[in-house]
Amino acid sequence: MPETSPQPLNSRICGPLKGIASVPGDKSISHRALMLGALALGRTRIRGLLEGEDVLHTAAALRLLGAQSGKDSEGWWVEGQGVGSLSEPANVLDLGNSGTSTRLLMGLVGSHGFTSFFTGDASLRKRPMARVMEPLSKMGVNFMARAGGRLPLAVIGTRDTVPITYKLPVASAQVKSAILLCALNTQGLTTVIETQATRDHTETMLRHFGAQVITEKGPDGETHISLRGYPTLKAREVDVPGDPSSAAFVTAAALLCQGSELVLKNIGINPLRAGFYETLQEMGANIAFENPRVQAGEKVADLKIKASTLKGVRVPAARAPSMIDEYPVLAVLASFANGKTGMEGLGELRVKESDRLNMIASNLQACGVKLEVEGDTLTVHGNGKPPTGGAKITTAMDHRIA
Ligand code: S3P
Repeated sequence: MPETSPQPLNSRICGPLKGIASVPGDKSISHRALMLGALALGRTRIRGLLEGEDVLHTAAALRLLGAQSGKDSEGWWVEGQGVGSLSEPANVLDLGNSGTSTRLLMGLVGSHGFTSFFTGDASLRKRPMARVMEPLSKMGVNFMARAGGRLPLAVIGTRDTVPITYKLPVASAQVKSAILLCALNTQGLTTVIETQATRDHTETMLRHFGAQVITEKGPDGETHISLRGYPTLKAREVDVPGDPSSAAFVTAAALLCQGSELVLKNIGINPLRAGFYETLQEMGANIAFENPRVQAGEKVADLKIKASTLKGVRVPAARAPSMIDEYPVLAVLASFANGKTGMEGLGELRVKESDRLNMIASNLQACGVKLEVEGDTLTVHGNGKPPTGGAKITTAMDHRIA
């Protein structure tokens, strides 16, 4: 959507949600399926790819880098020519609103011997890229960026990247993934150390395409993730599960609307993404995970949700990485619950598509919800009934706020 034409939407009280539904494909997995398909030998097939703007920006950028993709009657395909096969883009890579496309592709092109120029929309141009530039610089990649490591920036790639061992200073799957993707075309063993585990879709997808990724526990409980450069990635079939972050909104509506009884089919329940559902169960939500199974290495289940009375809980900081995108909708649920919900360790929300902590607080306050933000903790006081509502919500063009 053009940045200049926001479309107002009205939300009204609705009846119970009943029946069986599905949600679009997982965004994180869709990006990774396209990127690894572009580096594999042969034609990768992807079913259930999310066709949202962020993922389409990844596909378009990969096309500029020489990897073709498209859609036919059997779904999406990507034609890869192997690790290290990307070529200099003839134009600027515009990643729109997508931080995941930008950060992962910065890593991917870093170990190729050409320069690429990256830009994005007004929101993306405000977001910090130094967090990926720092480890990639240690690998030998050079950058030319705006102050504060912002887009537009140039990635001056090299064929002579060196492997590193890098401890993540922020719990970010995007930073971890940028390093691992750069490591693919880097000789030797690259290791990323996580003190807080983040979504492991890159590791899972790399294994699915035939790379060996070793994940081990370190002496202090941290996770060491290692990848040796120059693996042969083979074209694969990928079935993308339904996005648990999209399912979160429908789940929330079903929990709140009396009489709801809903089944959401084929939802990804990777434990490193499922913190929202764990929190809901602690709040007293009636949610069952049926038909658990594994698809392209990812855990999947059907979610059975019944309308429930919720109570306030404490959500520890350690859980934040596994539900980082779900705090806006959790805060809404907390405002209907009985008692207070304290959500800790939310610092990363300030650097998402908008300052989400601020956006959650100001919009819920506009709806008559009592809450406080102290440091990185958000406390919402629910009184067991719907808030006054009726407010005009400012989204800052951030989809999860909308
Ligand atoms: C994502 C990682 C998370 C998440 C984002 C998608 C990914 O970002 O918020 O929506 O696909 O790796 P961070 O790495 O900044 O935590």
